[in-house]
Amino acid sequence: MDEDRIPTGIAGLDRVIEGGLRDNTTLLVVGSSGTGKSTFAMQYIMYGLENGENALYVSLEEPPEQILEEAEKLGFDMKKYHERELFFFHTKGEDFKQLVEEQLPALVEANKDYSVRTRVVIDPLTPLIWSISDKKEQRELITKLFYTLKQLGAVLVTTEEHSAPGETIGEDVLIPVYLSDGAVHLTYRPIGGAFNRSLEIIKMRATRHGEEVYPYIFVRGIGVVAKTTPVVSPEDANKYDGMFDKAIKTASDLGASEMFLDKIRYVKKHWSYSFSPKETLQMLFETYGLTQAIKKDDVSGSENVDKDNTSSSQSEQSSNESSQQTTESFDKSDEENKGGEGDTVEIEDLSELEELAG
Ligand SMILES: Nc1ncnc2c1ncn2[C@@H]1O[C@H](COP(=O)(O)OP(=O)(O)OP(=O)(O)O)[C@@H](O)[C@H]1O
Ligand SMILES: [Mg+2]
Repeated sequence: MDEDRIPTGIAGLDRVIEGGLRDNTTLLVVGSSGTGKSTFAMQYIMYGLENGENALYVSLEEPPEQILEEAEKLGFDMKKYHERELFFFHTKGEDFKQLVEEQLPALVEANKDYSVRTRVVIDPLTPLIWSISDKKEQRELITKLFYTLKQLGAVLVTTEEHSAPGETIGEDVLIPVYLSDGAVHLTYRPIGGAFNRSLEIIKMRATRHGEEVYPYIFVRGIGVVAKTTPVVSPEDANKYDGMFDKAIKTASDLGASEMFLDKIRYVKKHWSYSFSPKETLQMLFETYGLTQAIKKDDVSGSENVDKDNTSSSQSEQSSNESSQQTTESFDKSDEENKGGEGDTVEIEDLSELEELAG
């Protein structure tokens, strides 16, 4: 992990978002009524409170007493933190413009020098969205709201959607999704069975996140439990290093620039899929003009590689010529290449590299 992440506390979620949220970002939880948005929000808050953090609960609908009651029913003892570490900001049917432009900025300003980590929840954002029909005005107000609250810490925002059949995500939530740093979609299909609810990560800026549809259940005392598999298992993490090293060597021999080599090194360090990077490397070589060197049979079925142009001497071409590279000169292996130029072995595609990853 490259930076400090703030665990959401949603069981199963953190392992598919690199450990949690980045500080001062927003996560939007979208779902139709009853999908578990408030449970998500409470769970997020509780995790922080249980770990010595503070929390601000912005409620545009229910009064604090009702939220505390509901939390109790889910098995969360929120009451004991109320007005000590947990603070509510409740407003209903009021002027949201004034809330966003005056009240919340004043609150943030008052907390400016406060050093305890604070997590923020807005549950739900829906009344504010519905109160403004003008899209431009809506966007401006939500932008300001997020900007203000992000100064306190990582913000979890819930919003209700009404997606039409066939829509991935409802039109009514496009603006908040667009303005959030991350978005999670909860869906409920009442078809019976334990796992009829599922969670998908729509986006998570600057994060390598899981891309599957994850079933989830409610567990009293925990909240939402999502059935996920880690994005990269420790055993998988370095599985393809050999292939990347091979690609670096080949690119270098083809006269690729340091920038290009650094790019492959970077991708090697961050490769998070359990499948082979072969095709990705192939595309990368192609994009940078390094490969008519690689036959495209795996990708497009094309066979037209000019073999006559192939010669090992071209591996010593300078980097500024690399974009005109028309040959294949993937060296088979360091060992086989030791004998000198004449021993350079042509590789028809990257599948041979894949064997290295075994
Ligand atoms: N222990 C539990 N077992 C099974 N289902 C549960 C449990 N606790 C909550 N639920 C389900 O969660 C739903 C409510 O979750 P929650 O209030 O978090 O949803 P929501 O998306 O916030 O809904 P709303 O849009 O009404 O605010 C309940 O309707 C119920 O179906
Ligand atoms: Mg709710």
